[in-house]
Amino acid sequence: MHSFSFLAAVLLSIIARSSAAAVPRSPDSQPRLPIQTSKANTNAPQLPWGAVINHCTVPGTIALAFDDGPYIYTEQVLDALAAHGVRATFFLNGAWKGNIHALAHVVQRILAEGHQIGSHTWSHPNLTTLTHPAIVSEMIQLEDAFLRILGFMPTYMRTPWLHVNDIVLSAMADLGYHVIGASIVTDDKQHDHPARSWRSFEKFRTELGNGGSIVLAHDSQENTAGILVPRMLEEVRARGLQAVTVGECLGHPSALWYRSGQ
Ligand SMILES: *[C@@H]1O[C@H](CO)[C@@H](O)[C@H](O)[C@H]1NC(C)=O
Repeated sequence: MHSFSFLAAVLLSIIARSSAAAVPRSPDSQPRLPIQTSKANTNAPQLPWGAVINHCTVPGTIALAFDDGPYIYTEQVLDALAAHGVRATFFLNGAWKGNIHALAHVVQRILAEGHQIGSHTWSHPNLTTLTHPAIVSEMIQLEDAFLRILGFMPTYMRTPWLHVNDIVLSAMADLGYHVIGASIVTDDKQHDHPARSWRSFEKFRTELGNGGSIVLAHDSQENTAGILVPRMLEEVRARGLQAVTVGECLGHPSALWYRSGQ
């Protein structure tokens, strides 16, 4: 079953990855790609590897994108997104706030509810302080976890603190990652307090008004889940914007958001 879809996805991945060095890993994993597009999309935009993308390209869209999960507040964020019927993106860690294996059911739920999953590194280091091999090792450790939990792994990542340098970007190009930045930075970790969360919301509104479209917030923060996310969702609705995944806001087919690791 899904053999045609899978072949199409593999073909698309090969075409899309032609400029990135393919590193065969975990040959024993069974690919189960969440394919929604079975036809080869010849109009698929070519997204760069190892270059930071800060803005959506599909008009009228906004990408709410969360870092540092899975954690104890992630499901509250999922509930709020479901209540508004919108999709978002989660850049997950392996072992940082929570442990990805202990919270594998949350990872599964994120995917099952139509959201996109990207990598945020295994242990949330400052990548700009690491060597190329150490950066690669961070990424591969999380890839192995994704392969075990999902059977496939993301082609999208966001770096901790949005920090990049030439070594980080060349490692991401080598591994075949689309590097996502942000054009709306909520500072929600700094303002994670019931009395200060409005500052993050005001920053969200201001940067949205200035043309921002890819959001940085954290599903690891209590007041992001409880206060900021509901407010952002109301604002998005009030402005008539469509909240979608990062991949969707870039017009990038969902078959290319993941790869099998083979
Ligand atoms: C990460 O490292 C860079 C380079 O040393 C430094 O400028 C930056 O402040 C560090 N960031 C954090 C969050 O420690």
